[in-house]
Amino acid sequence: MVWTPSICKTKIKPAEFICVYRSRTTDSLDEGALRFLSSGYVDYHLLLYDILGSEAHLIMLHEIGFLSSTSLKDLLAGLETIRKNPKILDIDKFEDIHECIETYLVTNLGYDVGGILQTARSRNDQVTLDLRMMVRDTINLISRMLVQLIDELLSRSEDNFNSIMPMYTHLQQAQLGTFAHFLLSYAEILSRDLDRLNDSYDRINLSPLGACAIGGTSINIDRYRTSSLLGFKGILNNSIDATTSRDDLIEYMSSLGIIMLNLSRIAEDFILWSTTEFGFVEIPDKYSSTSSLMPQKKNPDTLELIRAKASTVVGFLFGAMSLVKGLPSGYSRDLQELKPVLINSSRVVKESLNVLIPIVRGLKVNHAHMMDAARSSYAISVDIAEQLVSQKHISFRSAHRLVGSIVRTAVEKGNIPLSKLAESDIQNAFGQDASGVEPRDVLKVIQRLSPEKSIESRLSSGSPSVLQQRKLFDILLEKKKAYEKLISEREKSVNSAFNHLSHAAERYTQAGKT
Ligand code: ARG
Repeated sequence: MVWTPSICKTKIKPAEFICVYRSRTTDSLDEGALRFLSSGYVDYHLLLYDILGSEAHLIMLHEIGFLSSTSLKDLLAGLETIRKNPKILDIDKFEDIHECIETYLVTNLGYDVGGILQTARSRNDQVTLDLRMMVRDTINLISRMLVQLIDELLSRSEDNFNSIMPMYTHLQQAQLGTFAHFLLSYAEILSRDLDRLNDSYDRINLSPLGACAIGGTSINIDRYRTSSLLGFKGILNNSIDATTSRDDLIEYMSSLGIIMLNLSRIAEDFILWSTTEFGFVEIPDKYSSTSSLMPQKKNPDTLELIRAKASTVVGFLFGAMSLVKGLPSGYSRDLQELKPVLINSSRVVKESLNVLIPIVRGLKVNHAHMMDAARSSYAISVDIAEQLVSQKHISFRSAHRLVGSIVRTAVEKGNIPLSKLAESDIQNAFGQDASGVEPRDVLKVIQRLSPEKSIESRLSSGSPSVLQQRKLFDILLEKKKAYEKLISEREKSVNSAFNHLSHAAERYTQAGKT
């Protein structure tokens, strides 16, 4: 049976009322209170999703026999007018985008038609629906950007499998490695960021629509129909959970926080390695700042801001977590404050990736400097100790003691490279404690080792030998391709749902005209 409106046949003009919700009150909202309450300043991010959600809801109401074709046509046409020209909305006069849109429809179609929009729906299910649709799209977008960054890292790593440089622990030279090995390690963490976003996508991709304010509705709505019209995988089962919970969104924000921590580490490595003291890399001019005073300066400000903005995003996450802590079940207005931090977290991550991708692409690598640092480094010490273990069959601890004493001697002789030591230096270094190893043999081990041999001797999986780097590369390349496919499928599924929805809306609008 189609519901027949019985009241309010005349269209109300905008000037005659301010808020369609204020049935209970006699006074309109104080202007300052309205400004304080309004989330209009962020809600324009939700406008399109709100319209799509309303279209799906209205089509479903029509399909279950609740809404006449004529009213459906009018309402859909009204929504289409807003979609084409959002500027007709004066969102500042309203508490949020939902109220603003409904008021527009009521104003233009009257209470009898415009007033149907919110049947069996509340702003409580509506706002989380909009956020889920928005985050679903943003996950796809950020995932694409992560894939692009991984792609750049992989292609830069291919040219740098042999760019030997020291690796650092405690920021002190530790072992020899390659620049590509670092790039591959970044691709590895970013691929876990993709995993995390991917996991949260499935939890976000569920529809809360139809949960209403908290306890559902007596109208025979079809929640699965709206869910599928909007391209969701399914519905959030429980109406209390659907309207109250924000854990999925906070999970998404924590993935963003972790992404920023990872980007900040990459930024910090590049900042450090671009200093004159390291001189391993040079940041492209387009992404460097200069000084107002010191003419020689080229500063890595973009990378510094990525590092700083990581704190901002982590702060947003903490803001979101503190917001929901202690809230009771059921919607509370506190939840509105999630929107700015959620939207801003996504924005900062997108902006950071947007500068880091071209920085990686254009980074100049100073192979000669890296190699100089590697040649003059004592970071070859572990390799020497391991050669003594395998060639001279002494324990690792004994080899550690002997090599340590050799390094001490080289340092005392003015930081000379180990290969410049004489047999007598090694004899002196050992003193009484040679563990049965001849200084001459040790010297041979030292002289036979080079940075190149050090790298090639790394057998363990995940280490920087070219063979192992190639393996890391291949695994990441496969993973990257799999994600490219998955993201495309996800985007296709959302887009095709939205296309169907818009065709259905168009069909109903046309049909109603006859
Ligand atoms: N502006 C609100 C928000 O963003 C929409 C939900 C309002 N619901 C309510 N019962 N006041 O969270």
